[in-house]
Amino acid sequence: MADAPARLVLVGFMGVGKSTVGRLLARRLRYAFEDMDRRIERRAGRSIAELFRSEGEEAFRARELAEARELEPLERRVIATGGGAFAREDTRAALQHGALSVWLRCELDVLLGRLQPDGSRPLAGNREIMRALLADREPSYRMADVTVDATGTPEEVADRVLALVRGRRGPVRR
Ligand code: S3P
Repeated sequence: MADAPARLVLVGFMGVGKSTVGRLLARRLRYAFEDMDRRIERRAGRSIAELFRSEGEEAFRARELAEARELEPLERRVIATGGGAFAREDTRAALQHGALSVWLRCELDVLLGRLQPDGSRPLAGNREIMRALLADREPSYRMADVTVDATGTPEEVADRVLALVRGRRGPVRR
């Protein structure tokens, strides 16, 4: 694919399927798959929940920025971001640079139905908390290059993303 972006960066709220769809996309594009949360956990030797407990959110955001900067020069990567990564200006800038960013968008109730209440997401809360967090995040998700409807199966969502990637002509904006 002559015009394929060096990196495809998936952004969006918790539970939208960034990792599942990302893995499918990487396979189909023959790109490597990078999951920012898993990279952070590997590097720290601790889970996200443990990191939030021991270091707090700001330290976690610094870890996200460091990961985004490490990924910035790499090519042929599909990157699944954590739901808050794109909301930070410096992390967003590193993620967007030379990449095609894709907002996987979905209604809150669909997202809530997908989230497992397993304690792995420290910021997940009741419906009101999630509604407020999503409202807070949406302006930054809107800064992604393209928006894709993330309802349906992961395969359907991956098909939509691929159709968009293949339909684009010329280099990405940044
Ligand atoms: C977060 C989302 C999580 C993870 C962390 C914080 C957020 O990633 O990075 O729990 O701030 O929305 P997922 O979007 O993969 O759940």
